[in-house]
Amino acid sequence: MLNGKIDLRSDTITQPDAAMREAMASAIVGDDVLGDDPTVQELERRTAELLGKEAAVFVPSGTMANQLAIRSLTRPGDAILLDANAHIHCYEAGAPAALAGVQESLLDGRRGQFTTAQLEAALPPRDDHFAPPSLVCIENTHNRGGGSVWPLGKIESVVAAARRNGLALHLDGARLWNASAASGVSEPEYAGHFDTVSVCFSKGLGAPVGSALAGSADMIAKARFYRKQQGGAMRQVGILAAAAAHALEHNRDRLADDHANCRALANGLAKLPGLDIDAESAETNLLFIGTGESDAAALAKRLDESGIRLLATGPHTLRAVTNLTVKAGEIAEVIKAFEQLT
Ligand SMILES: Cc1ncc(COP(=O)(O)O)c(C=O)c1O
Repeated sequence: MLNGKIDLRSDTITQPDAAMREAMASAIVGDDVLGDDPTVQELERRTAELLGKEAAVFVPSGTMANQLAIRSLTRPGDAILLDANAHIHCYEAGAPAALAGVQESLLDGRRGQFTTAQLEAALPPRDDHFAPPSLVCIENTHNRGGGSVWPLGKIESVVAAARRNGLALHLDGARLWNASAASGVSEPEYAGHFDTVSVCFSKGLGAPVGSALAGSADMIAKARFYRKQQGGAMRQVGILAAAAAHALEHNRDRLADDHANCRALANGLAKLPGLDIDAESAETNLLFIGTGESDAAALAKRLDESGIRLLATGPHTLRAVTNLTVKAGEIAEVIKAFEQLT
């Protein structure tokens, strides 16, 4: 419950609780641009450790983490290969073209996951007519794929093909914590296959702000330069790093609750006529709900009036994201409201 409503619009709507606010208030801070902020440095060290990488850099957003990776791993004029529904392509304001000067080559994956064959078929011949491909991006879990988790074997196969072709690899792990919680594959097991990995503290983990990019020390030094150039270097930012560190420490284990709530929601809604739901698709905390004949925006408005907030993501599609403001007992209320309104 948030502000008197069950808020399923996103896992980014959470607010810092008293303990997180206390951690922020008591954080020791310094000018991070001058290398003086021990709280940021500790968060970066801990993040790199959790991902099994040499180094990490704290950034304001997942978008910046992804874009620093693309700039660090490519040259202007290169091509990058990614799923057509990738966050990097759909929701990052054209940044790969605007900031890195690269061309996107889009793969038609299923629930955000493409195959080795699709990747290889999209690689152009070595010929001066074509933008040279240099990077493959994978998103795990996949947002528009309905929170789908890439099976490790599928990642290994795509990574092997990418490496055979001399391509670098970036993992958009905004919800990598969810992927690990759902699959039991640890974060470093996933991260070990990639040159760079972005992670977010401000989604399921519940911090108000912040993401990180992890990789080799050389790669992260490059990313730090681009962070400065793009205006993302911040001063006494330990206040935010303290919230992120608190979230990492206290809110990772409870992601399984969000997943169980999402599954319960999917199972309950799948029984209602008039809705189109694949209950099996509820792998993590994200569920797309087909509204059949009903207009999704109108249905979202009526649900909002009865105290339940969801996002209309298409004319006949709603999105629900379970998050730490939603308790298990509230899922039955959501199902009941759908039952009454559909
Ligand atoms: C998969 C994925 N990557 C990156 C981002 C970008 O994060 P931010 O909103 O912090 O820029 C999001 C945001 O929802 C996301 O879902």
